[in-house]
Amino acid sequence: MRIVVGVCGGIAAYKVVGVIRTLVLQGHDVHVIPTDEALRFIGAPTLEAISRNPIATDLFDGVAEVKHVALGQSADVILIAPATANTIAKLATGLSDNLLTNSVLASTAPLVIAPAMHTEMWQNPATQHNVATLVDRGAHIVWPESGQLTGSDVGVGRLAEPEVIVDAVTAATGPKDLAGKTVVVTAGGTREPIDPVRFIGNRSSGRQGVALAEAARDRGADVVLIGANLEVPPPIGIEFAPVSTVAELRDAVVSRATGADIIVMAAAVSDYRPVNVAETKMKKDAVGDAVSIDLTANPDILAELGAQQHPRPVLVGFAAETEADADALAALGAGKLERKNADLIAVNRVDEGRGFGAADNEALIVASGGRIVATVDGSKRVVADAILDAALEVQR
Ligand SMILES: Cc1cc2nc3c(=O)[nH]c(=O)nc-3n(C[C@H](O)[C@H](O)[C@H](O)COP(=O)(O)O)c2cc1C
Repeated sequence: MRIVVGVCGGIAAYKVVGVIRTLVLQGHDVHVIPTDEALRFIGAPTLEAISRNPIATDLFDGVAEVKHVALGQSADVILIAPATANTIAKLATGLSDNLLTNSVLASTAPLVIAPAMHTEMWQNPATQHNVATLVDRGAHIVWPESGQLTGSDVGVGRLAEPEVIVDAVTAATGPKDLAGKTVVVTAGGTREPIDPVRFIGNRSSGRQGVALAEAARDRGADVVLIGANLEVPPPIGIEFAPVSTVAELRDAVVSRATGADIIVMAAAVSDYRPVNVAETKMKKDAVGDAVSIDLTANPDILAELGAQQHPRPVLVGFAAETEADADALAALGAGKLERKNADLIAVNRVDEGRGFGAADNEALIVASGGRIVATVDGSKRVVADAILDAALEVQR
């Protein structure tokens, strides 16, 4: 593929070197357009050496080749990383005052934008409005991450990791094999209240479910994301239904199951809930040193959906397990699939640094009879695409 990479003037410009290097090693023909400001942060020789192509910056260079439109017209995909608030604003309003913005305007190729900036700049309503405008026009946003920023401050705005950006480029140019299909995804972790301030919950951040919703959206599906207490924002361009308890999640899924083609139950749901929920905060003085809370079973949503008569949506469940052995994990997945009458189970190993809250995931995708359809180890996006591939295969 011919990939045009726009680089803007932010500290994170140095990180794009890793992205360009990976794209070149994957065999792509990469042409870099740094803005003038980008070249104050990173040197032209680095970008030329890594991309193995001369860079283009000046709007008035190569006028005979009509470079200001030729680069954009010839691109199979345009990636802008890091994208500054300034360039995002220009793109949202259609300004074309430098080679990069001209190239974007002259192109019909998919546009992937990886913003990076301080939290205040990112959260500014002007930036958020501009990003939403670009999403409405079909741009693919690689959402900035939370973490340490340039100074001592911490917050959302950090450029996504290079492998996440590369995955987004691949996804943006990938097949629209879910066009015309409706995919329902549950994500996050349920909370069962004990009293007005305490709950029984779990460590799920919702990242895997959000990655599934993004992947399905990028592949052309109409997506409904039912999110329980997500730690990450829901993606733009989908229908989002926030819930908290298992009962709420059940009602949301069941009401959307009719008409769905694929349901992926990635949320971690509580098997039990307190029988009685205290109306006021339980005080230590009143309850004493030893407390017992009576629990009752929650509805088994996966089994309820699995019991529906065919034709029903392809049903994908998740099993978070702590076994280390792959055969044991596969057997647990096969057992769950059988009990719930699901079509696929994604079994992922969870322990310190794996699964919950992490950027990466490892999963075995098990089909009926215990057949292992795929073993995936990578970003949650890579795992999401593998699950959707498997679901499509079951549907055929
Ligand atoms: C040290 C420094 C760091 C900056 N980092 C960022 C950044 O991370 N994100 C951003 O949107 N702007 C950042 N800016 C501001 C941009 O450089 C400025 O808006 C510039 O006009 C962007 O030009 P461009 O969009 O054409 O690359 C930074 C400026 C300075 C001086």
